[in-house]
This record gives sequence, structure tokens and C-alpha cells, in this order.
Amino acid sequence: MCEGLRLLGATRGSRIAVPRFICSDVTASLCCEGYLVVPYEITNQLQPDFSSPRPDAEYVLIVNYFGFACDVDSVVRIWGFTARQILEDNAHGLFSRDSGNRWLGQRTAIGFTSFRKTIRVRDGGILSVNDPALAKVAGSRELKPEPRPNPWGLTFRYLSAALSHRTGIPLMNISRKVKRQFVEVTVESFDSYSRVPTAVSTSSLATLEACDVTAETTRRRSLYERLVPVVERCGGIALFPDLPKGVVPYALPLLARPETLKEVRRALWRRDLEVFQWPDLPPNDFQLPEWQRHLALVSFLK
Ligand SMILES: Cc1ncc(COP(=O)(O)O)c(C=O)c1O
Repeated sequence: MCEGLRLLGATRGSRIAVPRFICSDVTASLCCEGYLVVPYEITNQLQPDFSSPRPDAEYVLIVNYFGFACDVDSVVRIWGFTARQILEDNAHGLFSRDSGNRWLGQRTAIGFTSFRKTIRVRDGGILSVNDPALAKVAGSRELKPEPRPNPWGLTFRYLSAALSHRTGIPLMNISRKVKRQFVEVTVESFDSYSRVPTAVSTSSLATLEACDVTAETTRRRSLYERLVPVVERCGGIALFPDLPKGVVPYALPLLARPETLKEVRRALWRRDLEVFQWPDLPPNDFQLPEWQRHLALVSFLK
């Protein structure tokens, strides 16, 4: 993200408009680099709130939450940002497209996709430099993939996922539950940010390259369509009951109060899917709109 902003021309002290509804890693990285974060609001359809004036900033971060496209054309038309001022945060949107069939992450001068969030690998992100003039500058700093062994936790997850698939026993959910009994879950404080971009590991890149995009698209879309009625039967509200064309969902976003969320977890337990709240917001922060306090995700990570 910060490398993308540097390529766009941002420097210490630049004002970056960022949706208020975001994980704290994003704002922490920006502050670390000396950028000034200018928050803007989003609607409960996860779009910038264009009824408010253009944020007072030189650059804007737009977010394709959970693989659902941000309306970039309105960011240009209504707020007047140019493609060279917009950083497209496609952390969640690997393989996803918008209603005009454009790949997410490639609709402005620079976009980034954290593919490690969509496919289970140890690391990996893509910085898409879509403006040829900026690509010339970025090209000279290309990083070579590096061999690194997979940590044992990842190997365990691969094995559990394969065994779960064969036996129908929700091993990942069982291990998550066991882990919660013994390890106190704390929100990690921000310390993993590296100023120097790190090369992806060869194993992560190989997994990405071997991924069958059509099969993964079909799996995610059909899972989404099967789960909407399940979530709704439990009393949850799917944010997007009809899955838009082109979207390859990272997760199913839903609104649920704590009791309902427990119901949803119970209903999905046997399918070995993880259900969690997003992002890590301060609990009981009544300044936040009600819907933001009750947003949860059913993750589709295999
Ligand atoms: C919307 C969004 N953007 C950016 C990030 C940061 O991505 P990464 O951890 O790959 O740097 C996250 C992290 O969860 C995120 O949710």
C-alpha cells in the first residue's frame, strides 16, 4: 500500500483519504510513513458516502470490501479524484471483477491485492501498476521470489482441510475451538510492518500460479449462493442477498447481533467455515454506526 502511494507521488505529510471503516493495520501503516489520514464515511452498501463533500485530501484509498467492487467511476465523477490520485485497495478481491467486467485492482493507476487472504499461502501480495509511466519507475525495483519453508501451522491447516473434506469432520473448527480454550486471543498490536517491500516466497507464488481460477470462482460463487438462505434462516441479514455478476467473494458479509451470530456459527459448524467479526473495532464503541458494530464475515478460505 505505502509503496503504491509512493509511486503515485505521495510524500510525508500528504493527506490520504481513507474510509473510517477499515482494519487498524491500514491506518497504522499510513501513520508510520508520515501520511495524514483523512477519514471518510461509507454507506451500509460499502460504498463511499457521496452525499458528503469530497474529502480534503490529495489521494484517496478506495476499498473493494470482501471482493465487492467500489464504484470507482463515481469517485472520479462526483469527488473529482483522478486515476493518479486513487489507490485501489483490493486486498480482498483476488479474481473479482466489476459490473463492467474490469478486474478489481486494475481500474486506477495503482492497485494492490493481498492474495494470501484469498488462497491459503504463507505470504503474498500483488502491486498492480496500471499506468505505463509509473510502471517504468516501479519496474526497476522488481523483487525476486525467495524460497522459504512453510511454517508448521500452515502445513497443519493444509492437512486438516484435506482430511475435513474427506471425512466431513470439521477439523479446522475443532482446532480453532481448542486453541481458543488455551490461548487467550488478543488483537495483535501493529508491529509487523516492514518499510522495505519483502519478496514473496516461491511456494506462495507457485500455489497462486497453480490455482484454477474458473474452479475457484465457481466454488466461491456457489458457496455464497447456498449460504445466503442459511444465514437468513438464522436471522442474519446478508448485505448483498443477490451476488452481483463478476464478484468473486472473499467472504459472505452479514449483519448479526451476538445471539444471531452464535446461531450462524452453529449452522455452519459442520461445513468447517470460519465466522468472525470484521474489522477489529473497539467493542461497544457507540460512536460507530449500528451496522458497523454488527458486521461479520463467513470466510471462504479453504
Ligand atoms: C481492506 C484491507 N486493506 C488492506 C489490508 C492490509 O493488507 P496486508 O495485510 O496484506 O498488508 C487489510 C488487512 O486485513 C484489509 O482488510
